[in-house]
Amino acid sequence: MKAAQINEYGKDVIEIIQDAKVPELAPGKVLVKVHTASVNPIDWKMSEGYMSQWKKLSFPQTLGGDFTGTVTDVGEGVTQYEKGDDVYGSGIILAGGSGAFAEYLVTNEKLISKKPEKANNMEAAALPLVAVSAWDAISNKMDLKKGQKILIHGGSGGIGSIAIQIAKYLGAYVATTARKDKTEYLKKLGADEIIDYRNERFEDRLQDYDAVFDTVGGDTYRRSFQVLKIGGIIVSMLEQPDTELMEKYKVTALGQLTKINSEDLKSLAELYDKGLITVNIDRAFPLDKAREALKYQRDSSVKGKVVIEID
Ligand SMILES: NC(=O)c1ccc[n+]([C@@H]2O[C@H](COP(=O)([O-])OP(=O)(O)OC[C@H]3O[C@@H](n4cnc5c(N)ncnc54)[C@H](OP(=O)(O)O)[C@@H]3O)[C@@H](O)[C@H]2O)c1
Repeated sequence: MKAAQINEYGKDVIEIIQDAKVPELAPGKVLVKVHTASVNPIDWKMSEGYMSQWKKLSFPQTLGGDFTGTVTDVGEGVTQYEKGDDVYGSGIILAGGSGAFAEYLVTNEKLISKKPEKANNMEAAALPLVAVSAWDAISNKMDLKKGQKILIHGGSGGIGSIAIQIAKYLGAYVATTARKDKTEYLKKLGADEIIDYRNERFEDRLQDYDAVFDTVGGDTYRRSFQVLKIGGIIVSMLEQPDTELMEKYKVTALGQLTKINSEDLKSLAELYDKGLITVNIDRAFPLDKAREALKYQRDSSVKGKVVIEID
């Protein structure tokens, strides 16, 4: 089968292999014919060795996590899926998958769910990691309520775009940071207030917020404590809780490590099918151009998601 693999850590080192081995099925796992995959920052971060302290890759390694495809075989003990099911989820190797940038993948049945019926392949492949991340932070960890105020950093990115919609669905007032040229896009997603992060300091404009969702990290994370009210909460996709700032501002700070799971994917598919969330496809690349797709996601100011079409 065709697969996008790396043979070493590095920047832009993906190669397209025509005769990669189809991954082997195992108990509790499913074999899937992949239709479309999507790119997340973790894909190029893994290639560049950022995650190597956590998990050392063995080479050659197929990259990719998020996908949609059709089940072609199931392993011993799999009860929820059968051949012919259209599914979406994660095949990332960090969670025991075989990698999604390939014509076939094997992954654990707990990392997938039935594909949203109203989503096309690009949309379904774009959702898993960003949607589960946003849902877990805003619904589970923050328990955001109607009428509360939330600041979402990186509103035009993959996670931010979905987070705005989830927060609006829950009835919150949403402020977001992004580049000025994304204003119309963010208004369409439902953002109430948009701050051009390159020309304005969000902490000068916002105060007494109930929650901050940080998808940027660094200085943005640290400055965010200033906009929270006492008892507020900040969840970061990149930073460990800063206990000093937590005590100083009397707020809760949590770091998030997203675990893709069938239950959240199922809830998100329902939201999608009810038209309550949508996903913007910024650009699609063929599998042969996987290297360019990762480079584009990393180096461009993307609006939503980048996908890789496989069949
Ligand atoms: N911990 C976990 O389990 C986990 C899971 C998923 C993702 N992540 C991490 O979470 C981060 C976001 O993921 P993603 O998929 O949403 O990435 P993404 O699609 O690349 O979005 C990042 C967004 O941040 C914006 N941005 C950059 N600097 C900013 C600033 N100073 N202020 C406001 N916005 C800024 C970018 O906008 P412009 O490009 O227009 O400047 C971009 O829209 C990544 O670092 C990813 O690795 C962590």
